[in-house]
Amino acid sequence: ETGRVVLGIESSCDETGAGLVRDGRLLGHAVASSMDEHARFGGVVPEIAARAHLHSFNPVVRQALDEAGLRLSDIGAVAVTTGPGLSGALHVGVAGAKTLAYSLGVPLYGVHHLAGHVAADTLEHGPLPDPCVVLIVSGGHTSLLLVRDLVRDPIVHLGDTVDDAAGECFDKVARVLGLPYPGGPAIDRTAREGDPAAVAFPRPLTGPRDDPYAFSFSGLKTAAARWAERYRLRGEEPPLADGAASLQEAVADVLTRKAVAACRAHGVGTLVVVGGVAANSRVRGLAEERCAAAGIELRVPPMRLCTDNGAMIAAVGDLLVRAGAEPAPADVSIDPSAP
Ligand code: KG4
Ligand code: ZN
Repeated sequence: ETGRVVLGIESSCDETGAGLVRDGRLLGHAVASSMDEHARFGGVVPEIAARAHLHSFNPVVRQALDEAGLRLSDIGAVAVTTGPGLSGALHVGVAGAKTLAYSLGVPLYGVHHLAGHVAADTLEHGPLPDPCVVLIVSGGHTSLLLVRDLVRDPIVHLGDTVDDAAGECFDKVARVLGLPYPGGPAIDRTAREGDPAAVAFPRPLTGPRDDPYAFSFSGLKTAAARWAERYRLRGEEPPLADGAASLQEAVADVLTRKAVAACRAHGVGTLVVVGGVAANSRVRGLAEERCAAAGIELRVPPMRLCTDNGAMIAAVGDLLVRAGAEPAPADVSIDPSAP
């Protein structure tokens, strides 16, 4: 235990997040999203995101401090997402974090955005078991990782999407079906009334010769577009609930099948599912079913920690502080395409 309060800053995409963590415990956090400003463009506009971070940085830090009942002077270290992400957006967070760390005279730590997503779960369920398999599913990523000690051991990358991320697939299909942005929550809602077996959408890369840990979701967008087109050509509205439920089923099936297979192949007893798509009700439901059947412990952080936030970055910063890690150099910069 260090008793040191770590402020975490996240600004890699459209959420400005600030979180405060001390010795593994979340003290307070706040998130501002520029999602609504991007909605009419159907996706995140980097310039708008960067400007929104500039606007939200101070209020979000203030709000997190208020929630924790702390003052700026209580901060003992600052952690900030350095990448991967949008460069303009990352710049605002890193510049702000550097300024705070420098003016407070406290160390600054650079954090990989995905390590943040992994660490989010520790704030709810305690330290991660070593080893565990982590499935990161968000708008920008679909990765299967083998994680040992988050700060001491390198994360082993098992597989990735070869094209679109799972969240991107939800967002694009929603657009094709005429559902609002962001697509994931809209599809989740619409699917509630639908039959998941109504449409036989493909299960890409699940054949015996395919890479067991690789994902592909761009074909699903095409399949969904073709499905909707068949109705529209006849002047009919496609049955959206059935389409949404079937698409969600296909994505959840592939994600959970491969994640459980990774656990089995590596003799790992814990699966952690993180990222915005972990909020999907069918992804969660099917993961629960399949993990229970395989005797694997499933950990999914609560929704508010699943999507981008500053608390998860503070969680990594706190682990780094407690591990006695070297702070970032004063000239630390962003790494938009960090591996
Ligand atoms: O982790 P996140 O907030 O941001 C990054 O991409 O890093 O994830 C956002 C993604 C979006 O694609 C959104 O559509 C998806 O997560 N998402 C969902 C749900 N809630 C958010 N996808 C499916 N079902 C949901 N309930
Ligand atoms: Zn993210």
